Amino acid sequence: MLTQILLLSLSVSYIQLAMSSPGVDQWIAALESSNSSLLHYPTQLTQNIVPKQIHSHNDYWRDVPLLSALSFGVQSVEADVWLINGTLFIGHEEAALTPQRTFSSLYIQPLLQALAAQNPKNEFTVNQTSPNGVFDTSSGTSLHLLVDIKTNGTEALPFILKALQPLRSAGYLTTSTNGSVTPSAVTVIGTGNSPLDGVKALEPRDYFFDGPLDSLNDTSMNTTWDASLSPIASTDYGAAVGWSGISAISDSQRSIITTLVNDAHSRGIQARFWDTPGWPIHARNNVWRELLDDGADWLNADDLEAAANF
Ligand SMILES: *[C@@H]1O[C@H](CO)[C@@H](O)[C@H](O)[C@H]1NC(C)=O
Ligand SMILES: *[C@@H]1O[C@H](CO)[C@@H](O)[C@H](O)[C@H]1NC(C)=O
Ligand SMILES: *[C@@H]1O[C@H](CO)[C@@H](O)[C@H](O)[C@H]1NC(C)=O
Ligand SMILES: *[C@@H]1O[C@H](CO)[C@@H](O)[C@H](O)[C@H]1NC(C)=O
Ligand SMILES: *[C@@H]1O[C@H](CO)[C@@H](O)[C@H](O)[C@H]1NC(C)=O
Ligand SMILES: *[C@@H]1O[C@H](CO)[C@@H](O)[C@H](O)[C@H]1NC(C)=O
Ligand SMILES: *[C@@H]1O[C@H](CO)[C@@H](O)[C@H](O)[C@H]1NC(C)=O
Repeated sequence: MLTQILLLSLSVSYIQLAMSSPGVDQWIAALESSNSSLLHYPTQLTQNIVPKQIHSHNDYWRDVPLLSALSFGVQSVEADVWLINGTLFIGHEEAALTPQRTFSSLYIQPLLQALAAQNPKNEFTVNQTSPNGVFDTSSGTSLHLLVDIKTNGTEALPFILKALQPLRSAGYLTTSTNGSVTPSAVTVIGTGNSPLDGVKALEPRDYFFDGPLDSLNDTSMNTTWDASLSPIASTDYGAAVGWSGISAISDSQRSIITTLVNDAHSRGIQARFWDTPGWPIHARNNVWRELLDDGADWLNADDLEAAANF
């Protein structure tokens, strides 16, 4: 209920801004240049919202990246990142890039603001040893920020690590040191062109690697897949499983899912299948239900509201 009220009040403000400047890009730019309190104090957005293991696919397509996802209790967001002329831009393809939509403006700064508000420094918090996360109802829940590098990963990684510095300095990043993981408010996980060797070389590490769910056993990759490298592992649902969700699932299809999930879990890694069917709705829901029943940890969603109410 509170969620609906908050969303309603959000959309009213957005409509006012949108009337003067159509288009989501200008809309976001207008929100930013107006110094809107919505972008300054998003923690209110998460009050009473129960976090869920949902991954917001192409999160930056939403009216307001990151915050829309948080409003549904979504615990994982994905940002497509392009390194161009030394700046990290956000967008699905080059035509969607604008100077205002950067990794910093759409993700790092809003996260810092949300987390600063969740972590007041005062006499009540002096003894607190680890920071609160973004979710009021579950302060120990870490938000997954998946960074899908679209340009050369080796070149982009140092820029991303630098962009993360404000979150790092504040102690907000999950870190692994010598194989042992210390969770914090935000867990950053590289995907897309993120360079495996570059991520493996990080010590301590606060940029993790989205592991290959379908080949964690593959020794030719010379990699020991565990949670200190890969908190999650993912694979293309269609290629790995292929069940449409319409007829009954076969035993062999189900056994593919459970084998992959169990392999991941035996390594302390969470399993995610991406590109699950989106339509028809009953087929989408059948696939989601099957995956959860078989132990998969994350629902990959384009429709966050549907996944949150699932
Ligand atoms: C933006 O708003 C915040 C909180 O309302 C305020 O502290 C800050 O000074 C403002 N920044 C600018 C540039 O106006
Ligand atoms: C990148 O830099 C080049 C050379 O200075 C310039 O022509 C180009 O417009 C820049 N591109 C972007 C996206 O800023
Ligand atoms: C913090 O720890 C000190 C020392 O143990 C104690 O005196 C104080 O009451 C604690 N503060 C809170 C808010 O728990
Ligand atoms: C990425 O950049 C590195 C360093 O500049 C270069 O060695 C490598 O060949 C590039 N990779 C690709 C796929 O272009
Ligand atoms: C790292 O972990 C290994 C094995 O767990 C241990 O032998 C080694 O002493 C640790 N190194 C440091 C610097 O803590
Ligand atoms: C991975 O190895 C385990 C243990 O040997 C085995 O049970 C499992 O079936 C293998 N998984 C795949 C996908 O080959
Ligand atoms: C794994 O190591 C072997 C032997 O050092 C090497 O030939 C091979 O290229 C490596 N594979 C990968 C994917 O790095």
